[in-house]
Amino acid sequence: MPATIVMGGQWGDEGKGKLTDALAGNVAVVVRANGGSNAGHTIETEAGVFKLHLVPSGILNPRCLCVIGAGVVVDPASLLAELDGLRQRGVDVAGLRLSDRAHVVMPYHPLFDRLEEARRADDEIGTTLRGNGPAYADKVSRRGVRVADLVDEGALRRKIEREIEEKNRILVRVYGEPALDPASVLDELLTLGARLAPYIAPSEVIVQDALAAGKEVLIECAQGAMLDIDYGTYPFVTSSSPTAAGACQGAGVAPTQVRRVIGVFKAYSTRVGGGPLPTELHDATGQAIRERGREYGTTTGRPRRTGWFDAVAARAVARQNGVTEIALTLLDVLDGFDHVKVCTAYRLQRLESTGGHSESAGIVESVVRHPPAGEAEWESISPVYETLPGWQCTTSEARSLEDLPDGARAYVRFLEDAVGAPVTMVGVGPARDQLVSLPLVTRTELAGAAG
Ligand code: GDP
Ligand code: IMO
Ligand code: MG
Repeated sequence: MPATIVMGGQWGDEGKGKLTDALAGNVAVVVRANGGSNAGHTIETEAGVFKLHLVPSGILNPRCLCVIGAGVVVDPASLLAELDGLRQRGVDVAGLRLSDRAHVVMPYHPLFDRLEEARRADDEIGTTLRGNGPAYADKVSRRGVRVADLVDEGALRRKIEREIEEKNRILVRVYGEPALDPASVLDELLTLGARLAPYIAPSEVIVQDALAAGKEVLIECAQGAMLDIDYGTYPFVTSSSPTAAGACQGAGVAPTQVRRVIGVFKAYSTRVGGGPLPTELHDATGQAIRERGREYGTTTGRPRRTGWFDAVAARAVARQNGVTEIALTLLDVLDGFDHVKVCTAYRLQRLESTGGHSESAGIVESVVRHPPAGEAEWESISPVYETLPGWQCTTSEARSLEDLPDGARAYVRFLEDAVGAPVTMVGVGPARDQLVSLPLVTRTELAGAAG
């Protein structure tokens, strides 16, 4: 049975949690592929609002096995606190499995996150300060501690002593901070490891066994493709790959085992933290979107930056990740606007030498339909917009395509064409049932409609 990927198509917070929960009823396993407690996935049910950070968003479905994959970095104290919180609210967490290969966010990683952000001063990334970047950095420099080490006292002691010796040199000499005590870090992690032991398992084996037994597996990504370490707005990115390829790697699934790649896109753009957001609105419209969409970070509470839908970024993401369908979320937030805009191209400015002997330079303008790599190019973007009529009624009660007003339907069709993939689901509110399912239109039909 093939796997399905749910991935964010923008800068995170697209509504992946709600969507994963909605689909989890029909799958046997939900596996989280990347990121750590920097993620915040919100699910609104009759029992209230759940904010998940490390626990996969299938946990509210009792029949679902929830797996934290090898690609995730896990802060043991955060995970245990999250599990305690869920248990207190009556959620059965016995079906959770934690990869023995996942890396541990060590108690010193959030400290390094903060110190590195402070060192960047005005150029800070605006991280969630959860230690994710430093944990992934240690992972790729082959100095990380893995979940399997938490239940192997000898290995844990050796690694902590080696690492803390090095970390202390940096803390004391570079940052002027007090040194860490390896013995207390070891004690703390052994205690946390003992509590996590019942959940630790070879996650990739569980996932492959499920697929071999013909069960449905859903891979849930954290963050969004524009925060990808390779193809995002570097350096203003996260430290993992929230992409279809990253989903496979983090979950332990082969690309050939994936049938559906659901790109979750908001009906507009948001971003939390620093870095380029070409369609950002600094006006009353941006503020209205923020208030109506309750655009405040799930993990940090920071106000999210808001703007119109960026179809240049979205099209590149859909193409490169093989997005087979789009879940368009928070459409209801755009209800009532006179008009809505979609960015369909970027106008870039580049300082270019005009050649000759007199090394003179001029500003060269170009219009592109693909995200650039250079930081200066990102900064120079002015969006080229298409303006569409708005719709003056609420969509939150809609449950089928026919229930949506003409303007909203036209907007959905416009985005399908601009992004290059069919919209199969539309979010019209935060609640579980506020989801419109659309018949799957093929790419050929889409191209025909556009022509
Ligand atoms: P995630 O990180 O992708 O899971 O998204 P977040 O949970 O961080 O942010 C999405 C926010 O939008 C949450 O507060 C959700 O409850 C809310 N939400 C999700 N889908 C919809 C929708 O269709 N309409 C509205 N109004 N809110 C939604
Ligand atoms: P979910 O899964 C939105 C952003 C941070 C910062 C950058 C790097 O809820 O969509 P990090 O702490 O990862 O080193 O921060 O990435 N960021 C997110 N933005 N949603 C997220 O997750 C995010 N996870 C990280 O704000 O700009
Ligand atoms: Mg979020």
